[in-house]
Amino acid sequence: MDKIVISGKRPLYGTIEVSGMKNAALPILYATILVGGKFSIENLPDVNDINLTLGIIETLGGKCVKDGACVEIDTTDIDGKVSIPVDTVKKMRASLYLLGALLGRYGYARIGYPGGCDFGVRPIDQHKKCFKTFGATVTEGDGHICVSAEQGLSGAHLFFDIVSVGATVNAILAAAKTPGVTTIENAAKEPHIVDLANFLNTCGAHISGAGTDTIKIRGEKELHGCSYDIIPDMIEAGTYMTAVAAAGGCVTIKNVIPKHLESITAKLIEAGVTVNVDDDSVEVVREPDSQLSRIMLKAIPYPGFPTDMQPQMCALLCSANGTSYITEGVWANRFRYVEELVRMGAHIVVEGKIAVIEGVSELSGAQVSAVDLRGGAAVVIAALCAKGVTVIDNISLIERGYHDIVGKLRSVGADIRKVSFPD
Ligand code: EPZ
Repeated sequence: MDKIVISGKRPLYGTIEVSGMKNAALPILYATILVGGKFSIENLPDVNDINLTLGIIETLGGKCVKDGACVEIDTTDIDGKVSIPVDTVKKMRASLYLLGALLGRYGYARIGYPGGCDFGVRPIDQHKKCFKTFGATVTEGDGHICVSAEQGLSGAHLFFDIVSVGATVNAILAAAKTPGVTTIENAAKEPHIVDLANFLNTCGAHISGAGTDTIKIRGEKELHGCSYDIIPDMIEAGTYMTAVAAAGGCVTIKNVIPKHLESITAKLIEAGVTVNVDDDSVEVVREPDSQLSRIMLKAIPYPGFPTDMQPQMCALLCSANGTSYITEGVWANRFRYVEELVRMGAHIVVEGKIAVIEGVSELSGAQVSAVDLRGGAAVVIAALCAKGVTVIDNISLIERGYHDIVGKLRSVGADIRKVSFPD
């Protein structure tokens, strides 16, 4: 079993290059299934969820040739009726996008229930609502969900009850080739939604309003392949910004879109960290051993502070001066990682959706687990500023979303290694 071993208390200096955004690349890869054609996709992150998705495209009969961060994909001749093994779809949430992509192209899709990080209940009612609004029938049984539209789909006015990234993605995928005009109200506004719309528009779609809460789509029957560059990963960037804030030092984080990082930058500045913003990079500076200030934050949909950065920020605040409060405003239960930080000496009490973090003077190394992707990033950050050695297991969960986190942190001076232990 692989583990990450970190010897803490080393300030970080240098430059880190951010990869392409996992949560933008995933819907775009599924969109290649919808469109059908030849694609050249650049800035693709080399992480487990992306490689799993390329495997799904190949299982359907598509071709994928990877060369570093570039992949050539041909989805001209895929077979939408091939069933994807349940074990594969269960490995990630994004496999739900197969429903929108295959329904939009063939009028039919059937998959096992998707998995993903465990944040308590993860309903899919808004996905089902969207397919039904476009005229599809949704049936469930035998651990599978099936959507079909024998008479074809038609554009419609869709009003989501809650803001959902995944349901907005599925609505865009299902509507892009559907005849008529679709209006999606209460849509998610995340940068990855905008990137998906930009990708599909490059393929000939007519999507406007992405990035606002009302998206309009005029269905275009024939879409075509294209070349496309995925946007940089704002959560990966935010994770390294927070790591430097925790360990101290001065690191330039390159290949970022600073606008996407504004809520993270604002909170780091509030905590006493210096962030110098340039066109496509941010420099994070903190004198080692300088005192961090307590803050309050609430994780909410974009442009608010991202839930996917909440665990990393909690790790930072463990050693701030005073009591910080974090409210999780998106997921039912995204505090499972707190137990791991407590093993390292953190004083955190979780009450429902609020974590109360009483700053301690120092964390100490311990044997901990990555309980999910961002919870895993949080223990890495805690370990970087802790006294002594931390050993983290279950690291495949971290590798679902961070390309070479060990190499990138080592390149700026962290004492971090990946070690294989006998099972
Ligand atoms: C996406 O998940 C991301 N995953 C998550 O990132 C991220 O935490 C989340 O959006 C919120 O930003 C990917 O992009 C692959 P949602 P998604 O639908 O789409 C409720 C990471 O760390 N809801 O926006 O599954 C739901 O329970 C991952 O990279 C319903 O009630 O999230 C949640 O409370 C983890 N019914 C809220 O909406 C539905 O039908 C937001 O979920 C759908 C969602």
